Amino acid sequence: MPLVTTTEMFKKVYGKCAVGAFNVNNMEIIQGIVDAAKEENAPLILQVSAGARKYAKHIYLMKLVEAAVADTGLPIALHLDHGEDFEICKACVDGGFTSVMIDGSKLPFAENIALTKKVVEYAHAKGVVVEAELGRLAGVEDAINVSAKDSSYTDPQQAAEFVHQTGCDSLAVAIGTSHGAYKFKGEPKLDFPRLQEITALLPGFPLVLHGASTVLPEFVAKCNEYGGELKGAQGVPEELLHKAGTMGVCKINIDTDLRLAMTASVREHLAVNPADFDPRQYLKPAREAIKNMVKHKIKDVLNCSNQL
Ligand code: G3H
Ligand code: 13P
Ligand code: NA
Ligand code: ZN
Repeated sequence: MPLVTTTEMFKKVYGKCAVGAFNVNNMEIIQGIVDAAKEENAPLILQVSAGARKYAKHIYLMKLVEAAVADTGLPIALHLDHGEDFEICKACVDGGFTSVMIDGSKLPFAENIALTKKVVEYAHAKGVVVEAELGRLAGVEDAINVSAKDSSYTDPQQAAEFVHQTGCDSLAVAIGTSHGAYKFKGEPKLDFPRLQEITALLPGFPLVLHGASTVLPEFVAKCNEYGGELKGAQGVPEELLHKAGTMGVCKINIDTDLRLAMTASVREHLAVNPADFDPRQYLKPAREAIKNMVKHKIKDVLNCSNQL
């Protein structure tokens, strides 16, 4: 089984549930995630950011993910997360990824279209699929008035025009999520009427939700208990993610929850076992913590177990 694109998985889950897209940076993270997906018989997207490529090097992540495919027999898509220019997308297409994201969301509409189109032409010629983004995630939770809010959330009419003009395969939308561990100051809320409008204008077209970690309170509490300082961390409630998965969102991006699961485990282990210094002693439980968290996501939140 080679690496696969997301085309078949999105067709299979559309309207029912979303596939988890998990950010990977090293071997233990990859192993924890794929072991969970294997036990749940679930479709899986592993994604690599520019920072991850810089940290681990493209070739190491590529080979680790190939090893995961050989080890599990799972159909896994390997995706570039937040590619910011044509060059990084090209490097990942040429370097064996099956999916790339071109994130032109900071650009004016016409420039985002032009850049996305260029990546789509290059990627499609090599059998690689493209995720694009329209609307702005960062800081949207701080919007204080309606016009500020409307300028950063995805406009449904523009989304439809963008997809038709670029030929992208999936689209990340801004409906109230944001990256990291501090997503909401007050009550967590997503703009479901807006999502509904986008879906109505783009029936059957796969949408993507970034910034979709729940910032699981048990991990935040454990970090804080063992010397961490994560005050006021808050993420997207699980029920909202589940609902988005039934409304045309086919891919849900999770990184922060992996980081928290791993860090909570390492902090606890080293605090409780101060004499330990073999990295395997703390990375083994950390890998197990990631596996258990990902199983929970797949089974109880995304509902995509047995969707192969
Ligand atoms: O969207 C950002 C992802 O969480 C990746 O983060 O760029 O620090 O690797 P990173
Ligand atoms: P979180 O920070 O909510 O995990 O979002 C990750 C993400 O969107 C990666 O692209
Ligand atoms: Na992405
Ligand atoms: Zn993202």
